[in-house]
Amino acid sequence: MKAFVTGAAGFIGSHLTDALLAAGHTVTGLDDLSTGRLENLSRAGEHPRFRFRQGTVLDRARVEEDAHGADVVFHFAAAVGAFVIRDRTLESLRTNVHGTENVVEAAYRNNATLLLASTSEIYGKNTLAGLREDDDRVLGSPLKSRWSYAEAKALDESLVDAYCRQRGLAAVIVRLFNTVGPRQTGRYGMVIPRFVRQALTGEPLTVFGTGTQIRCFCHVADVVPALIALAHEPRAFGSAVNLGSTEQVTISDLADRVVAATRSRSEVRYLPYEQAYGPGYEDMLRRVPDCTLAKELVGFEAHTTLDEIIDSVAEEIARRVRQPTVPRR
Ligand SMILES: NC(=O)c1ccc[n+]([C@@H]2O[C@H](COP(=O)([O-])OP(=O)(O)OC[C@H]3O[C@@H](n4cnc5c(N)ncnc54)[C@H](O)[C@@H]3O)[C@@H](O)[C@H]2O)c1
Repeated sequence: MKAFVTGAAGFIGSHLTDALLAAGHTVTGLDDLSTGRLENLSRAGEHPRFRFRQGTVLDRARVEEDAHGADVVFHFAAAVGAFVIRDRTLESLRTNVHGTENVVEAAYRNNATLLLASTSEIYGKNTLAGLREDDDRVLGSPLKSRWSYAEAKALDESLVDAYCRQRGLAAVIVRLFNTVGPRQTGRYGMVIPRFVRQALTGEPLTVFGTGTQIRCFCHVADVVPALIALAHEPRAFGSAVNLGSTEQVTISDLADRVVAATRSRSEVRYLPYEQAYGPGYEDMLRRVPDCTLAKELVGFEAHTTLDEIIDSVAEEIARRVRQPTVPRR
């Protein structure tokens, strides 16, 4: 099978690329390296069935050329991370709306199957414990840049849905809940790599907000096989499917567990949202998925526990901290 992976140098895209190559597929990866790193592709880069293209999904001709002959398109390129969305709102919207439009059209023209990486942010402030795919979205004002990511991804979902219904595109939308593991950077607002780096370097762990907000973290190694299986499961086409862990943790408990796992002497400090993100920031108190559909379709289960996740991230970041030649991320 020939796969085209956008965002291939990113955290999830690079793990997906490695898994596709290991399964015998041929992969073309496109990435503009805005938040991704070539280093993530160090294993794939040596592979004879892999070719990397540096470029943007906003370049329609480039996307058309790179998608040519693909059987499956995995669309993972996106502007991601709270700080990226806050600081580069306009560019992020363009990438997440127009870039996706280019990729969806290219998949359609090539008669390829498409997997769109969407997000649990779609549900916004809906705090139901066990969010199902048809649950309502509860969003704040569109004038708060924080919601523009969810809005763009929702538009992407509607676009894919319309291509499925009107043009017969075979596509599945995957709503990823917090996904973590090695190669994820804490630079753009992702909490576990940020906490782990702070703990390992003896800095205070900074909890944004009260720390009572509840999240579930899923290891990328549990997510990637489900992504590949969903792209090959016709019963999933035309649907959105949640993927995530259901092991709940408050952010304050998470900070304590990172300190304990790394045997750090760092203290935990609390920073009001306003200071962390600027005025008017809104968050959701709880975000927990119901993954019954993913289990039914492809037998998905999140096996890796939160403690195992923290250990695997700490192991990788400890290696980076010890190697000063590697850029800090
Ligand atoms: N990690 C998570 O918890 C999570 C949760 C929900 C959804 N997602 C989705 O999964 C996908 C991958 O996220 P990630 O966590 O691996 O983040 P990431 O930042 O590591 O990956 C995104 C990749 O897209 C690339 N990119 C950005 N703009 C681009 C452009 N215009 N053209 C080409 N490449 C571009 C970046 O350089 C990066 O390599 C995204 O679509 C994201 O919305 C991730």
